[in-house]
Amino acid sequence: MTVAGKMPMTSKPAELNYDGHKIEFQVTEGSEGERGIDINKLRDATGLVTIDNGFMNTAATSSAVTFLDGEKGILRYRGYPIEELAEKSTFIEVSYLLLYGELPTATRLKWFEGQLAKHSDTKEGIKTIIKAFPKEAHPMGIASAAVVALSGFYPEYSEGHLTEAQKDEVFPLLMAQLKNIAAYQYRASQGKDLVDAQPKKFDYVTDFLFQMTGKDVDPEVSKALNILLILHADHEQNCSTSSVRLVGSSQANVFASISAGVDALWGPLHGGANQAVIEMLQEIQADGGDYKKFILKAKNKDDNFRLMGFGHRVYKNFDPRAKIIKKACDTILEKLKIKDPLLAIAKGLEEEALKDQYFVERKLYPNVDFYSGIIYKALNIPTNMFTVMFALGRLPGWEAQWKEMVETPSIKIGRPRQIYVGSTERHYQAITERK
Ligand SMILES: CC(C)(COP(=O)(O)OP(=O)(O)OC[C@H]1O[C@@H](n2cnc3c(N)ncnc32)[C@H](O)[C@@H]1OP(=O)(O)O)[C@@H](O)C(=O)NCCC(=O)NCCS
Repeated sequence: MTVAGKMPMTSKPAELNYDGHKIEFQVTEGSEGERGIDINKLRDATGLVTIDNGFMNTAATSSAVTFLDGEKGILRYRGYPIEELAEKSTFIEVSYLLLYGELPTATRLKWFEGQLAKHSDTKEGIKTIIKAFPKEAHPMGIASAAVVALSGFYPEYSEGHLTEAQKDEVFPLLMAQLKNIAAYQYRASQGKDLVDAQPKKFDYVTDFLFQMTGKDVDPEVSKALNILLILHADHEQNCSTSSVRLVGSSQANVFASISAGVDALWGPLHGGANQAVIEMLQEIQADGGDYKKFILKAKNKDDNFRLMGFGHRVYKNFDPRAKIIKKACDTILEKLKIKDPLLAIAKGLEEEALKDQYFVERKLYPNVDFYSGIIYKALNIPTNMFTVMFALGRLPGWEAQWKEMVETPSIKIGRPRQIYVGSTERHYQAITERK
Protein backbone atom coordinates (compact mmCIF):
# COMPACT_ATOMS: atom_id res chain seq x y z
CA MET A 1 0.00 0.00 0.00
CA THR A 2 1.44 3.39 -0.96
CA VAL A 3 0.72 6.61 0.87
CA ALA A 4 0.11 9.46 -1.49
CA GLY A 5 1.35 12.70 0.10
CA LYS A 6 -0.28 15.93 -1.03
CA MET A 7 2.15 17.65 -3.40
CA PRO A 8 3.17 21.17 -2.35
CA MET A 9 1.43 23.96 -4.32
CA THR A 10 3.23 26.81 -6.04
CA SER A 11 2.61 30.35 -4.83
CA LYS A 12 4.41 33.70 -5.51
CA PRO A 13 8.06 33.31 -6.64
CA ALA A 14 10.97 34.64 -4.53
CA GLU A 15 13.54 37.02 -6.04
CA LEU A 16 17.27 37.16 -5.41
CA ASN A 17 19.27 40.21 -6.46
CA TYR A 18 22.97 39.41 -6.67
CA ASP A 19 25.82 40.99 -8.56
CA GLY A 20 23.50 42.98 -10.81
CA HIS A 21 21.32 40.00 -11.72
CA LYS A 22 17.76 39.25 -10.64
CA ILE A 23 16.91 35.55 -10.32
CA GLU A 24 13.48 34.11 -9.55
CA PHE A 25 12.86 30.98 -7.54
CA GLN A 26 9.69 28.96 -7.18
CA VAL A 27 8.07 28.88 -3.76
CA THR A 28 6.29 25.69 -2.77
CA GLU A 29 3.66 25.48 -0.08
CA GLY A 30 2.74 22.51 2.12
CA SER A 31 -0.71 21.46 3.33
CA GLU A 32 -0.31 23.40 6.62
CA GLY A 33 0.85 26.58 4.86
CA GLU A 34 4.62 26.10 5.38
CA ARG A 35 6.49 27.65 2.47
CA GLY A 36 9.94 26.95 1.08
CA ILE A 37 12.11 28.53 -1.63
CA ASP A 38 13.22 25.90 -4.13
CA ILE A 39 16.93 26.67 -4.66
CA ASN A 40 17.72 23.62 -6.81
CA LYS A 41 18.73 25.85 -9.75
CA LEU A 42 20.64 28.42 -7.65
CA ARG A 43 24.16 27.15 -8.36
CA ASP A 44 23.56 26.75 -12.08
CA ALA A 45 22.13 30.27 -12.30
CA THR A 46 24.58 32.10 -10.04
CA GLY A 47 27.52 29.85 -9.10
CA LEU A 48 26.42 30.25 -5.47
CA VAL A 49 25.51 27.58 -2.94
CA THR A 50 23.61 28.12 0.32
CA ILE A 51 25.24 27.80 3.76
CA ASP A 52 22.99 26.48 6.51
CA ASN A 53 24.90 25.31 9.57
CA GLY A 54 23.03 22.44 11.24
CA PHE A 55 20.30 22.59 8.55
CA MET A 56 18.49 25.14 10.73
CA ASN A 57 16.69 26.48 7.66
CA THR A 58 16.71 23.66 5.14
CA ALA A 59 13.75 21.44 4.22
CA ALA A 60 15.50 18.29 2.99
CA THR A 61 12.25 16.78 1.71
CA SER A 62 8.49 17.15 1.55
CA SER A 63 6.77 14.57 3.73
CA ALA A 64 3.22 13.48 4.57
CA VAL A 65 4.12 11.57 7.75
CA THR A 66 4.36 14.05 10.63
CA PHE A 67 3.42 17.69 11.07
CA LEU A 68 5.17 19.75 13.71
CA ASP A 69 4.73 23.44 14.57
CA GLY A 70 7.45 24.34 17.05
CA GLU A 71 6.07 27.81 17.77
CA LYS A 72 2.58 26.54 18.61
CA GLY A 73 3.69 23.26 20.21
CA ILE A 74 1.77 21.09 17.72
CA LEU A 75 2.71 17.51 16.85
CA ARG A 76 0.51 15.34 14.62
CA TYR A 77 1.13 11.91 13.06
CA ARG A 78 -0.69 11.67 9.71
CA GLY A 79 -2.92 14.53 10.91
CA TYR A 80 -3.84 13.01 14.30
CA PRO A 81 -2.86 15.12 17.35
CA ILE A 82 -0.28 13.42 19.58
CA GLU A 83 -2.48 14.10 22.63
CA GLU A 84 -5.34 11.98 21.17
CA LEU A 85 -3.06 9.17 20.09
CA ALA A 86 -1.31 9.03 23.49
CA GLU A 87 -4.68 8.89 25.27
CA LYS A 88 -6.63 6.54 23.01
CA SER A 89 -4.33 4.48 20.81
CA THR A 90 -1.67 1.79 21.18
CA PHE A 91 1.90 1.74 19.95
CA ILE A 92 1.11 -0.96 17.37
CA GLU A 93 -1.88 0.96 16.00
CA VAL A 94 0.27 4.11 15.77
CA SER A 95 3.03 2.16 14.01
CA TYR A 96 0.51 1.01 11.40
CA LEU A 97 -0.78 4.59 11.06
CA LEU A 98 2.74 5.91 10.40
CA LEU A 99 3.53 3.17 7.87
CA TYR A 100 0.25 3.07 5.96
CA GLY A 101 -1.16 6.57 6.47
CA GLU A 102 -4.47 5.50 8.05
CA LEU A 103 -5.55 4.04 11.37
CA PRO A 104 -6.07 0.29 10.83
CA THR A 105 -9.49 -1.33 10.63
CA ALA A 106 -9.94 -4.32 12.96
CA THR A 107 -9.02 -6.65 10.07
CA ARG A 108 -5.89 -4.70 9.13
CA LEU A 109 -4.77 -4.49 12.77
CA LYS A 110 -5.13 -8.25 13.09
CA TRP A 111 -3.10 -8.67 9.91
CA PHE A 112 -0.35 -6.34 11.21
CA GLU A 113 -0.20 -8.15 14.56
CA GLY A 114 -0.02 -11.41 12.61
CA GLN A 115 2.96 -10.06 10.64
CA LEU A 116 4.72 -9.10 13.89
CA ALA A 117 4.04 -12.57 15.32
CA LYS A 118 5.21 -14.30 12.12
CA HIS A 119 8.64 -12.66 12.41
CA SER A 120 9.04 -12.91 16.17
CA ASP A 121 11.68 -15.67 16.24
CA THR A 122 15.28 -14.49 16.22
CA LYS A 123 17.98 -16.40 14.35
CA GLU A 124 20.57 -18.14 16.52
CA GLY A 125 23.36 -16.18 14.78
CA ILE A 126 21.89 -12.86 15.97
CA LYS A 127 21.58 -14.22 19.52
CA THR A 128 25.23 -15.32 19.33
CA ILE A 129 26.29 -11.82 18.21
CA ILE A 130 24.41 -10.27 21.15
CA LYS A 131 25.89 -12.71 23.65
CA ALA A 132 29.41 -12.13 22.27
CA PHE A 133 29.43 -8.51 23.49
CA PRO A 134 31.03 -7.71 26.86
CA LYS A 135 28.39 -7.43 29.64
CA GLU A 136 29.10 -3.73 30.09
CA ALA A 137 28.74 -2.88 26.35
CA HIS A 138 26.30 -0.07 25.63
CA PRO A 139 22.89 -1.37 24.41
CA MET A 140 22.88 1.14 21.52
CA GLY A 141 26.11 -0.30 20.09
CA ILE A 142 24.65 -3.80 20.36
CA ALA A 143 21.34 -2.70 18.80
CA SER A 144 23.07 -0.98 15.88
CA ALA A 145 25.33 -4.01 15.22
CA ALA A 146 22.49 -6.53 15.52
CA VAL A 147 20.17 -4.53 13.24
CA VAL A 148 22.75 -4.26 10.44
CA ALA A 149 23.65 -7.93 10.97
CA LEU A 150 20.04 -8.84 10.11
CA SER A 151 20.93 -7.97 6.50
CA GLY A 152 23.10 -11.09 6.41
CA PHE A 153 20.34 -13.29 7.76
CA TYR A 154 17.58 -11.92 5.52
CA PRO A 155 19.22 -11.48 2.08
CA GLU A 156 15.73 -11.46 0.50
CA TYR A 157 15.09 -8.02 2.06
CA SER A 158 18.65 -6.70 1.71
CA GLU A 159 18.31 -4.81 -1.58
CA GLY A 160 17.69 -1.06 -1.81
CA HIS A 161 14.56 -1.74 -3.90
CA LEU A 162 11.82 -3.77 -2.26
CA THR A 163 8.44 -4.80 -3.63
CA GLU A 164 5.24 -3.84 -1.77
CA ALA A 165 4.96 -7.42 -0.52
CA GLN A 166 8.56 -7.33 0.78
CA LYS A 167 7.94 -4.04 2.59
CA ASP A 168 4.85 -5.56 4.22
CA GLU A 169 7.17 -8.24 5.64
CA VAL A 170 10.34 -6.35 6.50
CA PHE A 171 8.84 -3.48 8.53
CA PRO A 172 7.07 -5.71 11.10
CA LEU A 173 10.10 -8.03 10.97
CA LEU A 174 12.40 -5.20 12.04
CA MET A 175 9.98 -4.15 14.80
CA ALA A 176 9.74 -7.71 16.13
CA GLN A 177 13.51 -8.13 15.93
CA LEU A 178 14.50 -4.85 17.60
CA LYS A 179 12.17 -5.71 20.48
CA ASN A 180 13.92 -9.06 20.89
CA ILE A 181 17.38 -7.52 20.48
CA ALA A 182 16.68 -4.92 23.21
CA ALA A 183 15.34 -7.54 25.64
CA TYR A 184 18.04 -10.11 24.82
CA GLN A 185 20.93 -7.70 25.31
CA TYR A 186 19.55 -6.82 28.76
CA ARG A 187 19.26 -10.49 29.75
CA ALA A 188 22.74 -11.22 28.38
CA SER A 189 24.22 -8.25 30.28
CA GLN A 190 22.75 -9.73 33.47
CA GLY A 191 24.17 -13.18 32.68
CA LYS A 192 20.61 -14.55 32.40
CA ASP A 193 19.01 -16.89 29.83
CA LEU A 194 17.32 -15.16 26.89
CA VAL A 195 13.50 -15.17 26.98
CA ASP A 196 11.90 -15.63 23.57
CA ALA A 197 8.85 -13.71 22.34
CA GLN A 198 5.36 -15.02 23.03
CA PRO A 199 3.24 -13.06 20.55
CA LYS A 200 0.26 -15.40 20.92
CA LYS A 201 0.10 -14.67 24.64
CA PHE A 202 1.11 -11.01 24.92
CA ASP A 203 0.73 -7.76 23.00
CA TYR A 204 3.98 -6.27 21.63
CA VAL A 205 4.75 -3.96 24.57
CA THR A 206 3.83 -6.47 27.29
CA ASP A 207 5.86 -9.11 25.47
CA PHE A 208 8.94 -6.88 25.53
CA LEU A 209 8.60 -6.35 29.30
CA PHE A 210 8.06 -10.09 29.79
CA GLN A 211 11.15 -10.88 27.71
CA MET A 212 13.20 -8.46 29.82
CA THR A 213 12.08 -9.68 33.22
CA GLY A 214 10.79 -13.22 32.61
CA LYS A 215 7.97 -12.28 35.00
CA ASP A 216 4.27 -11.34 34.80
CA VAL A 217 3.81 -7.75 33.68
CA ASP A 218 1.72 -5.18 35.58
CA PRO A 219 -0.81 -3.79 33.02
CA GLU A 220 -0.13 -0.27 34.37
CA VAL A 221 3.55 -0.66 33.47
CA SER A 222 2.63 -1.86 30.00
CA LYS A 223 0.21 1.06 29.55
CA ALA A 224 2.84 3.61 30.61
CA LEU A 225 5.40 2.13 28.20
CA ASN A 226 2.82 2.20 25.38
CA ILE A 227 2.40 5.95 25.93
CA LEU A 228 6.17 6.54 25.93
CA LEU A 229 6.64 4.58 22.70
CA ILE A 230 3.76 6.45 21.00
CA LEU A 231 5.28 9.80 21.98
CA HIS A 232 8.62 8.77 20.47
CA ALA A 233 7.25 7.12 17.32
CA ASP A 234 8.10 9.92 14.87
CA HIS A 235 9.38 13.48 14.86
CA GLU A 236 9.77 14.38 11.18
CA GLN A 237 13.27 15.27 9.89
CA ASN A 238 15.33 15.06 13.10
CA CYS A 239 18.98 13.96 13.25
CA SER A 240 18.37 10.18 13.29
CA THR A 241 15.54 10.24 10.74
CA SER A 242 17.63 12.38 8.42
CA SER A 243 20.45 9.85 8.85
CA VAL A 244 18.08 7.02 7.88
CA ARG A 245 17.00 8.97 4.79
CA LEU A 246 20.55 9.98 3.87
CA VAL A 247 21.90 6.43 4.09
CA GLY A 248 18.79 5.10 2.32
CA SER A 249 19.20 7.66 -0.46
CA SER A 250 22.29 5.75 -1.65
CA GLN A 251 19.95 2.74 -2.08
CA ALA A 252 21.56 1.04 0.90
CA ASN A 253 19.21 -1.62 2.31
CA VAL A 254 16.67 -0.94 5.05
CA PHE A 255 18.72 -2.72 7.76
CA ALA A 256 21.77 -0.51 7.05
CA SER A 257 19.59 2.62 6.95
CA ILE A 258 17.85 1.86 10.26
CA SER A 259 21.15 0.93 11.89
CA ALA A 260 22.43 4.41 10.94
CA GLY A 261 19.35 5.87 12.66
CA VAL A 262 20.22 3.97 15.85
CA ASP A 263 23.77 5.37 15.72
CA ALA A 264 22.60 8.97 15.25
CA LEU A 265 20.06 8.62 18.07
CA TRP A 266 22.77 7.50 20.51
CA GLY A 267 24.27 10.98 20.97
CA PRO A 268 23.41 12.99 24.12
CA LEU A 269 22.14 15.93 22.08
CA HIS A 270 19.53 13.60 20.56
CA GLY A 271 18.08 10.36 22.00
CA GLY A 272 20.96 9.92 24.44
CA ALA A 273 19.58 12.89 26.37
CA ASN A 274 17.16 10.69 28.35
CA GLN A 275 20.08 8.79 29.89
CA ALA A 276 21.98 12.06 30.40
CA VAL A 277 19.00 13.62 32.24
CA ILE A 278 18.86 10.87 34.87
CA GLU A 279 22.64 10.99 35.28
CA MET A 280 22.40 14.77 35.71
CA LEU A 281 19.58 14.46 38.30
CA GLN A 282 21.60 11.82 40.17
CA GLU A 283 24.64 14.11 40.10
CA ILE A 284 22.56 16.95 41.57
CA GLN A 285 21.18 14.58 44.22
CA ALA A 286 24.68 13.32 45.13
CA ASP A 287 25.83 16.92 45.36
CA GLY A 288 23.21 17.67 48.04
CA GLY A 289 20.23 18.52 45.78
CA ASP A 290 21.03 22.22 45.21
CA TYR A 291 19.63 22.51 41.66
CA LYS A 292 20.12 26.30 41.61
CA LYS A 293 23.87 25.68 41.53
CA PHE A 294 23.39 23.61 38.35
CA ILE A 295 21.27 26.33 36.74
CA LEU A 296 24.23 28.68 37.27
CA LYS A 297 26.57 26.08 35.73
CA ALA A 298 24.28 25.76 32.67
CA LYS A 299 24.35 29.54 32.19
CA ASN A 300 28.11 29.82 32.54
CA LYS A 301 29.63 30.02 29.05
CA ASP A 302 33.02 28.82 30.42
CA ASP A 303 31.36 25.62 31.60
CA ASN A 304 30.41 22.88 29.10
CA PHE A 305 27.51 21.77 31.31
CA ARG A 306 24.05 21.97 29.71
CA LEU A 307 20.73 21.37 31.38
CA MET A 308 19.98 18.01 29.79
CA GLY A 309 16.37 17.54 28.70
CA PHE A 310 16.06 21.28 28.10
CA GLY A 311 15.88 23.07 24.77
CA HIS A 312 14.91 21.89 21.33
CA ARG A 313 15.84 22.79 17.77
CA VAL A 314 12.23 23.21 16.69
CA TYR A 315 10.07 23.66 19.82
CA LYS A 316 10.39 27.26 20.90
CA ASN A 317 7.31 27.46 23.13
CA PHE A 318 6.73 24.04 24.64
CA ASP A 319 7.24 20.42 23.64
CA PRO A 320 3.73 18.84 23.59
CA ARG A 321 5.27 15.45 24.36
CA ALA A 322 6.87 16.82 27.54
CA LYS A 323 3.43 17.97 28.80
CA ILE A 324 1.95 14.48 28.30
CA ILE A 325 5.00 12.81 29.84
CA LYS A 326 5.00 15.02 32.93
CA LYS A 327 1.38 14.03 33.63
CA ALA A 328 2.05 10.35 32.84
CA CYS A 329 5.03 10.49 35.22
CA ASP A 330 2.87 11.68 38.12
CA THR A 331 0.21 9.05 37.33
CA ILE A 332 2.54 6.06 37.04
CA LEU A 333 4.55 6.94 40.15
CA GLU A 334 1.30 7.25 42.10
CA LYS A 335 -0.11 4.00 40.72
CA LEU A 336 3.07 2.08 41.44
CA LYS A 337 3.34 3.86 44.84
CA ILE A 338 6.87 5.03 44.08
CA LYS A 339 8.36 8.12 45.70
CA ASP A 340 11.36 9.10 43.61
CA PRO A 341 13.38 12.00 45.04
CA LEU A 342 14.69 12.65 41.51
CA LEU A 343 11.17 13.76 40.50
CA ALA A 344 11.25 16.52 43.13
CA ILE A 345 14.67 17.65 41.85
CA ALA A 346 13.39 17.61 38.24
CA LYS A 347 10.32 19.67 39.13
CA GLY A 348 12.40 22.17 41.12
CA LEU A 349 14.89 22.47 38.29
CA GLU A 350 12.12 23.02 35.74
CA GLU A 351 10.38 25.65 37.87
CA GLU A 352 13.62 27.53 38.48
CA ALA A 353 14.73 27.41 34.82
CA LEU A 354 11.34 28.53 33.47
CA LYS A 355 11.55 31.80 35.39
CA ASP A 356 15.21 32.45 34.65
CA GLN A 357 15.94 35.12 32.01
CA TYR A 358 18.67 33.00 30.37
CA PHE A 359 16.23 30.17 29.59
CA VAL A 360 13.29 32.50 28.82
CA GLU A 361 15.30 34.58 26.30
CA ARG A 362 16.61 31.48 24.53
CA LYS A 363 13.18 29.79 24.57
CA LEU A 364 14.52 26.75 26.40
CA TYR A 365 11.79 24.45 27.74
CA PRO A 366 11.75 20.86 29.02
CA ASN A 367 11.74 18.43 26.10
CA VAL A 368 10.48 14.84 25.76
CA ASP A 369 13.56 13.49 27.52
CA PHE A 370 13.26 15.54 30.69
CA TYR A 371 10.67 13.33 32.46
CA SER A 372 10.82 10.14 30.34
CA GLY A 373 13.85 8.82 32.27
CA ILE A 374 11.97 9.03 35.57
CA ILE A 375 9.19 6.88 34.08
CA TYR A 376 11.66 4.36 32.64
CA LYS A 377 13.31 4.20 36.07
CA ALA A 378 9.90 3.57 37.70
CA LEU A 379 9.33 0.75 35.19
CA ASN A 380 12.66 -0.80 36.32
CA ILE A 381 14.36 -0.19 33.00
CA PRO A 382 18.09 0.38 33.61
CA THR A 383 19.52 3.82 32.76
CA ASN A 384 21.81 2.61 29.98
CA MET A 385 18.75 1.15 28.20
CA PHE A 386 16.79 4.42 28.01
CA THR A 387 18.09 5.33 24.56
CA VAL A 388 17.40 1.88 23.19
CA MET A 389 13.80 2.32 24.41
CA PHE A 390 13.69 5.55 22.41
CA ALA A 391 14.97 3.59 19.37
CA LEU A 392 12.23 0.98 19.83
CA GLY A 393 9.67 3.78 19.84
CA ARG A 394 11.21 5.66 16.90
CA LEU A 395 11.58 2.57 14.66
CA PRO A 396 8.14 2.77 12.95
CA GLY A 397 8.83 6.47 12.25
CA TRP A 398 12.20 5.66 10.65
CA GLU A 399 10.51 2.92 8.62
CA ALA A 400 7.67 5.20 7.48
CA GLN A 401 10.16 7.90 6.43
CA TRP A 402 12.39 5.38 4.62
CA LYS A 403 9.31 3.95 2.87
CA GLU A 404 8.16 7.42 1.86
CA MET A 405 11.60 8.21 0.50
CA VAL A 406 12.01 5.07 -1.60
CA GLU A 407 8.47 5.52 -2.96
CA THR A 408 9.16 9.12 -4.06
CA PRO A 409 9.76 9.25 -7.82
CA SER A 410 13.06 10.83 -8.92
CA ILE A 411 14.59 10.71 -5.44
CA LYS A 412 18.20 11.92 -5.46
CA ILE A 413 21.15 10.70 -3.43
CA GLY A 414 21.69 13.06 -0.45
CA ARG A 415 24.91 14.91 -1.13
CA PRO A 416 25.47 18.35 0.44
CA ARG A 417 28.03 20.83 -0.88
CA GLN A 418 30.67 22.68 1.12
CA ILE A 419 32.63 25.90 1.19
CA TYR A 420 36.26 24.81 1.08
CA VAL A 421 38.53 26.73 3.49
CA GLY A 422 41.70 24.57 3.37
CA SER A 423 45.08 25.07 1.66
CA THR A 424 45.16 26.16 -1.94
CA GLU A 425 47.19 24.02 -4.36
CA ARG A 426 50.67 22.96 -3.20
CA HIS A 427 53.09 20.22 -4.23
CA TYR A 428 54.36 17.00 -2.77
CA GLN A 429 57.72 17.10 -0.96
CA ALA A 430 59.94 14.10 -0.31
CA ILE A 431 60.05 13.24 3.43
CA THR A 432 63.68 14.43 3.68
CA GLU A 433 62.64 17.90 2.51
CA ARG A 434 59.80 18.40 5.00
CA LYS A 435 60.22 20.66 8.03
C1 LIG B 1 18.41 20.22 21.80
C2 LIG B 1 19.57 21.17 21.45
C3 LIG B 1 20.69 20.29 20.88
C4 LIG B 1 19.10 22.19 20.41
O1 LIG B 1 20.19 22.85 19.95
P1 LIG B 1 20.17 24.14 18.97
O2 LIG B 1 18.84 24.31 18.38
O3 LIG B 1 21.33 23.95 18.03
O4 LIG B 1 20.41 25.35 19.94
P2 LIG B 1 21.85 25.89 20.41
O5 LIG B 1 22.71 24.76 20.87
O6 LIG B 1 22.37 26.79 19.34
O7 LIG B 1 21.41 26.76 21.65
C5 LIG B 1 20.91 28.10 21.57
C6 LIG B 1 21.34 28.83 22.82
O8 LIG B 1 20.75 28.22 23.99
C7 LIG B 1 21.75 27.65 24.83
N1 LIG B 1 21.27 26.32 25.23
C8 LIG B 1 20.60 25.43 24.43
N2 LIG B 1 20.25 24.34 25.14
C9 LIG B 1 20.73 24.56 26.40
C10 LIG B 1 20.68 23.77 27.57
N3 LIG B 1 20.09 22.58 27.58
N4 LIG B 1 21.27 24.26 28.70
C11 LIG B 1 21.88 25.48 28.68
N5 LIG B 1 21.93 26.27 27.58
C12 LIG B 1 21.37 25.80 26.47
C13 LIG B 1 23.01 27.56 23.98
O9 LIG B 1 24.18 27.60 24.80
C14 LIG B 1 22.85 28.76 23.10
O10 LIG B 1 23.18 29.90 23.87
P3 LIG B 1 23.88 31.19 23.16
O11 LIG B 1 22.85 31.70 22.17
O12 LIG B 1 24.17 32.12 24.28
O13 LIG B 1 25.12 30.67 22.48
C15 LIG B 1 20.07 21.93 22.71
O14 LIG B 1 19.01 22.68 23.25
C16 LIG B 1 20.64 20.98 23.77
O15 LIG B 1 21.83 20.65 23.73
N6 LIG B 1 19.80 20.50 24.77
C17 LIG B 1 20.26 19.58 25.74
C18 LIG B 1 20.24 18.16 25.16
C19 LIG B 1 18.86 17.61 25.00
O16 LIG B 1 18.03 17.67 25.91
N7 LIG B 1 18.61 17.01 23.83
C20 LIG B 1 17.34 16.33 23.53
C21 LIG B 1 16.58 16.99 22.44
S1 LIG B 1 14.98 16.21 22.28
